[in-house]
This record gives sequence, C-alpha cells and structure tokens, in this order.
Amino acid sequence: MRLLVTGGLGFIGSNFVRHHLGSYPGDSIVNLDLCTYAGNPANLADLAPPAAGHSAAGAVRKENGIARRYRWIRGDIADPEAVDKAMAGCDAVVHFAAESHVDRSILEPGVFLRTNVIGTQVLLDAALKHRVRRFVHVSTDEVYGSVEKGLSREGDPLEPNSPYAASKAASDLLVRSYVVTFGLPAVITRASNNFGPFQFPEKALPLMITNWMESRPFPLYGDGLNVRDWVYVLDHVRGIELVLRKGRVGEAYNIGGTCSSTNRELVARVRDIMGIGPELVRPVPDRPGHDRRYALDCSKLKKLGFRHKYRFADALAKTVEWYGMHPEWWRPLKGRKGYQGYYKKQYRTLAKS
Ligand code: NAD
Ligand code: TYD
Repeated sequence: MRLLVTGGLGFIGSNFVRHHLGSYPGDSIVNLDLCTYAGNPANLADLAPPAAGHSAAGAVRKENGIARRYRWIRGDIADPEAVDKAMAGCDAVVHFAAESHVDRSILEPGVFLRTNVIGTQVLLDAALKHRVRRFVHVSTDEVYGSVEKGLSREGDPLEPNSPYAASKAASDLLVRSYVVTFGLPAVITRASNNFGPFQFPEKALPLMITNWMESRPFPLYGDGLNVRDWVYVLDHVRGIELVLRKGRVGEAYNIGGTCSSTNRELVARVRDIMGIGPELVRPVPDRPGHDRRYALDCSKLKKLGFRHKYRFADALAKTVEWYGMHPEWWRPLKGRKGYQGYYKKQYRTLAKS
C-alpha cells in the first residue's frame, strides 16, 4: 500500500511514519508537510537527513530498506495543486497535519481555520478525485468539549470550546459530510492528550520536562485541577493503524490512554521522576476557556481488537529519559526567536485573563 501522510514531520505524524514503515515492509509513504514551526525534519532524520537549513524541498532519500520507502514533499494541505501531486498514486491517506496548540489558537485563530478546516476540505476533494480506498482523519477528544463527569462516546454532540477544538470539530463534520454525500471511504479517530518523544516543547509535558532540565519553572495554569487523559504516542499510532485497516467507513473511534490525571498530579509524578522541588512549579493565571476535563469511552476501539501496549508509568519515565538524552533535539527549538516571541505574547495574554 502507498500512503499519503500529512503532517508527518510533526510529533504524532513522525511517530506514525516510523512505526508504519517498520511494521509494513511492503508499504511506502509520501509525507506532505509544510514544515511550519511545529514541523521538524529532525523528527525523521533517521529516514531522511534534514536538508541544509531545512529550507529545500524534501525528497531526500537514504538508501536503506526503510528510507527508500519514504519521501517528504514540502507543501501546504490548503494548496490544491500541491495536494493533487502528492496524492497521485496513493491508496490511502492518514491526515495529521494541523495547527495543534490550544494556546496559539487563542492568540491567532485564523491560521487554525485555514489549515484545519480548508486544508481538510482540499484533501477530501483530492481523495475523491484520486479514488483513495481509505481516508483516516486524525482528530481529538477536545471536539466533545469539557465533560464534567462520565465519558465521551463517539455519538455525543460536539461542543468545542477553543478555536483549536472548534476547527477540529468543523473538520470532523466535513469528513462526515463527504462520507454521506460523496461516498468517500473515510473514518475519524479522536485521541486524548498524547505524550512521548518528538513533541514540540510548547505542550504541557515536554515544556515541563525541558524547563526543569534547564532549572526553569513550569507555568501551571489556574488551580491545576483540570483533568486530562494521557495516551502514549505509540499506543495512539497503534490505534490509528487498527482503524486504518479495520475501521468501518463513516465511523469515529475514540483512542484514549490509561491515565486520567489532574495537572497537579501530573506535575507531582514528573517532579518525582526528575527529583524536582516545588519551587519550579509556578502558578499562573488560567487559560481563557480552559476545559475542565476530558475523558473518553474507548469500548468501540476495543471491539475492533485494540489493547494498550504501554503502561503509563513506564512510558512517562521513558519519555523523561528521552528528553534527557536528546537536548540537541529540543534546545535549538526553544532557542528560536519565534518560540521566545510566542511566550512573550502568551504570558501577556494570561496576565490579562
Ligand atoms: P504537531 O503540531 O506536532 O504537528 C503538526 C504538523 O503539521 C507539523 O509537522 C506541521 O509542519 C504540519 N502542518 C501544519 N500546517 C500545515 C499545512 N498547512 N500543510 C501541511 N502541513 C502542515 O501536531 P501533533 O501533536 O503531531 O498532532 C497531529 C494531529 O493529531 C493533529 O491533527 C492534532 O489535532 C491531532 N491530535 C493531537 C493530539 C496531541 O495530544 N498532540 C491529541 C489528539 C489529536
Ligand atoms: P496542553 O499540552 O496544551 O494540551 P491541551 O490543552 O490540548 O489539553 O495542556 C495540557 C494541560 O496542561 C491543560 O490542562 C493545560 C495545562 N497547561 C499548563 O498548566 N501550563 C502550560 O504551560 C501548558 C502548555 C498547559
């Protein structure tokens, strides 16, 4: 099978590409990725070394078994011509590309609509034209909104609360409409908070771990009692693989983890692993519209045969170790002007909230 993966230079996409090529020796992958601030050729440097300055079009191939089956095309999912070229000859699409950070969506919603909604629509049109056999749309538990108690099921109403979640919910609904109206063989996955290697250090866990590695505080929003469900990225990837092969057209599948935790509890666990004192946890004003709790019912995925492979405590410890072993990966990202500019804006916004 030849797959088009979008957003394969990001956190989850790069973990998927490596896992897929390792698991399916007959498959090849074309990765369409614009390489925004969140995309990083270094995430797949073992398959294709970053082009000089990360600026040239990808398509760099290393001649070993896996690398020959992988190609990166630098392009925008909202550009119909780029998408058309990348999708030609592909049997299936796994769509990760998105603007993915809630805090950035509060600062700048427009780019979320362009990429997450228009970009998805452009991909859906191309998928019809190229008659792909399967389209997997990778979405999030955030589309259900905050659930005070109980678990979100796939048929629940979508009640997104941030511009990020609203743009993802809009794209989920577009996918549904292409199934019903045009018969596109699409499926949707909705995962909880992922963690693991190669996560951009703006999301809570990698920010916490890397800040503490630099003896800097982690900013804990509000009262720290917001609850998230945590899934190790490779379990998420395994869930997507299963849905790609066995999911029923037109259905959505929740992919949750094995640990539901308040942010305070998460902070305590990581402090424990790293031996960090309380002085490196800095309470800051809350994120506007901060969802209190996400929680997923994953029985539908389990009926497809899904079982978690990774224990939360082990995966968390392994993740901390990975960031410790790879400062050359995250230090340059945190040193960028754009990264520091984002934090200046971000803390001004929180101070006003
Ligand atoms: P990420 O921000 O790490 O990566 C996004 C990737 O998409 C980057 O490589 C970026 O360059 C690329 N991209 C952005 N705009 C693009 C465009 N216009 N054209 C082409 N490529 C573009 O994201 P992630 O955390 O890996 O998330 C991947 C997907 O999974 C997203 O759709 C996200 O909504 C979903 N998801 C994420 C989580 C999570 O915890 N991170 C949880 C559930 C669902
Ligand atoms: P995040 O990783 O941004 O994921 P999401 O908001 O999509 O769930 O945040 C996870 C939780 O951590 C969320 O409740 C917000 C909180 N958080 C902080 O307390 N401080 C931070 O600096 C960040 C980025 C998040």
